Amino acid sequence: MKKIFFSTTLVFLHLLTLQSQNKKPLYKDKNKPIEERIDNLISLMTLDEKIMQLNQWTYGKNANPNNIGEKMKAVRPEIGSLLYRSTNPEFRNQIQKKAMTESRLGIPIIFGFDAIHGYRTVFPIPLAQACSWNTDLVKQSCTITAKESWLSGLDWTFSPMLDVARDARWGRVSEGYGEDTFANASFAVAAVQGYQGNNLADKYTIAACLKHYIGYSLSEGGRDYHYSDISNQTLWETFMPPFEAGIHAGAATVMSGFNDISGVPASANHYTLTEVLKNKWKHDGFVISDWGSVRNLVEQSVAKDLKEASMKAFLAGVEMDMVDNAYMDYLPQLVAEGKVPIATIDEAVRRILRVKMKLGLFENPYVDVVTEKKRYLLPNYLKVAEELAAESMVLLKNESATLPITSKYKDLAIIGPMVKDSVHIMGFWEGMGQPEDVETIYEGLEKEFKNKVKLHYALGCDFDGNDKSGFEAALEAVKKSDAVLVFLGEKRNWSGENGSRSTIALPKIQEELVSELRKAGKPIILMLSSGRPLELIRLNEMADAIVEIWQPGTKAGSSVAGILSGRHNPSGKLSITFPQATGQIPIYYNMRESARPKLGHYQDIPRDPLYWFGHGLSYTTYDYSPIQLSADKITKNEKLIAEIEVTNSGEVQGKETVLWFIQDPFATISRPMKELKYFEKKEIKKGKKVIYRFDIDPIRDLSYVDSFGNRHLETGDFYIIVNNQKIKFELVN
Ligand code: NOJ
Repeated sequence: MKKIFFSTTLVFLHLLTLQSQNKKPLYKDKNKPIEERIDNLISLMTLDEKIMQLNQWTYGKNANPNNIGEKMKAVRPEIGSLLYRSTNPEFRNQIQKKAMTESRLGIPIIFGFDAIHGYRTVFPIPLAQACSWNTDLVKQSCTITAKESWLSGLDWTFSPMLDVARDARWGRVSEGYGEDTFANASFAVAAVQGYQGNNLADKYTIAACLKHYIGYSLSEGGRDYHYSDISNQTLWETFMPPFEAGIHAGAATVMSGFNDISGVPASANHYTLTEVLKNKWKHDGFVISDWGSVRNLVEQSVAKDLKEASMKAFLAGVEMDMVDNAYMDYLPQLVAEGKVPIATIDEAVRRILRVKMKLGLFENPYVDVVTEKKRYLLPNYLKVAEELAAESMVLLKNESATLPITSKYKDLAIIGPMVKDSVHIMGFWEGMGQPEDVETIYEGLEKEFKNKVKLHYALGCDFDGNDKSGFEAALEAVKKSDAVLVFLGEKRNWSGENGSRSTIALPKIQEELVSELRKAGKPIILMLSSGRPLELIRLNEMADAIVEIWQPGTKAGSSVAGILSGRHNPSGKLSITFPQATGQIPIYYNMRESARPKLGHYQDIPRDPLYWFGHGLSYTTYDYSPIQLSADKITKNEKLIAEIEVTNSGEVQGKETVLWFIQDPFATISRPMKELKYFEKKEIKKGKKVIYRFDIDPIRDLSYVDSFGNRHLETGDFYIIVNNQKIKFELVN
């Protein structure tokens, strides 16, 4: 105690001397190296000031029902971070001013928020974004989100979510980039680059946060927040690579998950948080807990009380405590009792200060204040929103060229609960998106087909319930029409956090509506808006065409209408498999082969899922040439070039994504049936050919990790797989 008092007095004296000499302390000198500035600042901080840096409070009432925040009484100017739920930049600047002028050392606050798929301009949900296979558009959407967020007072978003997800019952499947590891890693890099730009200190850039570290999506049975039993092999092979890619792309922060990983919860896991993240990958930013995940360690039965939970989370490597106040309340005692070393506190503070310094907050603590008109929904933002939404949509089925809507249709029935909706269509975590900003599907269709097609609208039924009173009017509309567009789907909170469902089928009433409408014998075009893959085993049979439009966001209307008219040629391919039925979960493209491949499948449904990962049709046709290889044998130090020529042999231009898979048929540790290693999307004009090329690097593309994260490269046969083609090559010594 005496020691603490003594050093505090020295700090005060030092500051007084500097003040009397009218000299700026070193940490305020932006020309000095960041690490020197941090050393200097930490040497001046009291224990209380240090511990305050390790906490995040929430400002404003949190609208998310899973994170109900209390209105804060007063913001202590020493607080490390605020979860900021206001859109007012002036207000942020006022709070920041308090931190800069009323705290002894003037350490800026870092303001964070969940801008997951947009801030005010809402882009499609991440699961949909991945179906676009367009990393450039995804990056652009994140740049826009960063700009809207920064101008609203934010420095930091809790995004991207990199939980590779293979259980569609888990509602949060909507927030990530689907079932594949490589796809998640690729979009992780795009998102980090989009949010953080080239230099975090630039205006309009915000810090990214990779979450939920790690294995959260494997919660048992898809029940949110539940236990996840993960072998180290799966951890390294499936879950680690997207995080590693995000860290190497420079992600400033990471969020630790709610889940218990095989007995050691993610927020108390020294192995993942310190040994891997900090020691192996050399991440120099900080880890924030998830909302209350420090406190949850008590529920998860690894800590007897909040004090022990704080100690466990902190010593495992969680530097900032989101909203629990646990660090604030217990770290002082834990330090006094010698259970938490002061050096560990200093290291945690250093990491947080480093991110604040990189963001330039010490020099530029305030954001620009411009009008909402200049801040949100700018025409170029809406253009990206429409393109990304359109490229995310997946044409699942199109019998007898039912789509697009051409002059063969004069009258169209437009039915379903999604048609005039402006809330659910934005999906979960809609940021600060407002229903009044949303272009509804109905508005989009009216604009697109004005004077060309007569639209006959009827609601048909609600999202759920038993009320069939709207069926009759819907059938009347169908009778007047040449084809029927049925817009079905999920409400926004049926997916997202705490949005688990025991079945991924749509409620019975929606399926009944389709079987009723079919009675008129007109072509049925099913338009599905959901935050997860759906069980379509019954609906698939009833529809002539199906488009999964996901939850497209602000530009729902024109993106959907563009897909229907052919103004946008569908180019999305599934980032997640659609099983036949819920009971077929888990089913994903890169499973291990079974011991008896022809046996063991469920007896009551087909063996394959309804639509595999990678499935997606177009209004044109593409012919693939045979795969060409630069050699049929390479050594471990050589590269192999694979090329394929794709011809657009149809009537319209389009964009085609080539997905390159590798199969390693024998290895010391069994390998999945195939693994995505590269993808590329290109535009191909009608009648033209384009070459796609994959440069195979043996270490990167042919090796595998073991359960300790060590890479192995074994010689032998490999296959490259593209669509239905499979070609062999050999890796030799
Ligand atoms: C809980 C969620 O799990 C997480 O994804 C989110 O970032 C935080 N709440 C903050 O809202």
